[in-house]
Amino acid sequence: MESFNQEQNYFGLDLGNSSIKVAQLRELRGKPTLVTYGDIDVPENLLSSDSPIDQDRIAEYVRQLASDANISSKNVIAAIPSTSSFTSIIRVPKMPHNELGESISYQADKYIPIPLNQAKLDWAVIGEYPETDELSVLLVAAPNNIANKYLNIIQKAGFELLTLEINALALARSLTAPSQTNNTVIIVDIGTLSSDIAIFTGQVPQIVRSIGVGSKALRRVISQNLGLDETQSDQFMKKFGLQEDKIEGQVFKTLKPVIDHVVEELNKSIAYHLDRSPESKIEKIILTGGTSALPNLPMYIANATNLTVEIGNPWTNISYPADLQQTLASISLNYATVLGLALRNLAQ
Ligand SMILES: Nc1ncnc2c1ncn2[C@@H]1O[C@H](COP(=O)(O)OP(=O)(O)OP(=O)(O)O)[C@@H](O)[C@H]1O
Ligand SMILES: [Mg+2]
Repeated sequence: MESFNQEQNYFGLDLGNSSIKVAQLRELRGKPTLVTYGDIDVPENLLSSDSPIDQDRIAEYVRQLASDANISSKNVIAAIPSTSSFTSIIRVPKMPHNELGESISYQADKYIPIPLNQAKLDWAVIGEYPETDELSVLLVAAPNNIANKYLNIIQKAGFELLTLEINALALARSLTAPSQTNNTVIIVDIGTLSSDIAIFTGQVPQIVRSIGVGSKALRRVISQNLGLDETQSDQFMKKFGLQEDKIEGQVFKTLKPVIDHVVEELNKSIAYHLDRSPESKIEKIILTGGTSALPNLPMYIANATNLTVEIGNPWTNISYPADLQQTLASISLNYATVLGLALRNLAQ
């Protein structure tokens, strides 16, 4: 039987709209090390449903997946969509870690635009002000109705929810290097129903936005414009994507206006950020989420933003058996959120 130290006795859970993912890590010789991972496909639209029967179904998927993946903990750190939450950076006097929570919740109502009895709070120390002996703390609040839905699913699956974290924070942990504290990077997570855009300086979020564009919208326009069924639309999307020189640019022309929504939102967010922090230097855009595999997408976004674009690798900070290298690389796009969650309480 493996023994875990209490702080590290948990697993990450990402409830995605096309698949649910789990990952469990532990610290071995000072490095986060893979214990187990897994995913299970779920019908689209199940997660967005608020019906109790559908929540039972999701809970059953979670239970099944955790069992298949041999997850050995009852404790869960899960992600909620970035846009379902409020974040704020506050200053608090330096004090022992165990007193911080109380002090922060005491102050929180000044910073969170919803009544505290209608929200769940989470926080993280993100820096220090040595000159005033204060800490800089990132405060996150999720409205109760959303938090309760996740709590409900997790309890029904037989687990205990330790923390709900926003998607963007988990992504920053798995996709950015912890040491590069002053660089600004933009993380774009393109999933099934939506895309998250988050601008980070170090691991501190400056802007977090989401728009309702993902692979579902891409499949829909292909089906409408080219008169194809769902399976064919999916194949055309994955095969031709944004390649202008394939089948006379038919798929490219169809997808372009949809992807341009993401680009527009990206450029607006960048302009807004540079307006507030003109000295900021944006290093690159990091793409993640399954839909980032759309052919020629990185090049298209690089041209449209004039920034360097790379595909995120969430395994960089994690040790794993060498023979898994190829398998793990092939799921990189889908696992960035869940690996960020699994990294949360480990030293990096
Ligand atoms: N080559 C490809 N081109 C475009 N889309 C792709 C490609 N390969 C996979 N996808 C899409 O990626 C999606 C899965 O990605 P991911 O696991 O990030 O989504 P999710 O987390 O379940 O969704 P969400 O974040 O919206 O809840 C699927 O909808 C799939 O159609
Ligand atoms: Mg996702």
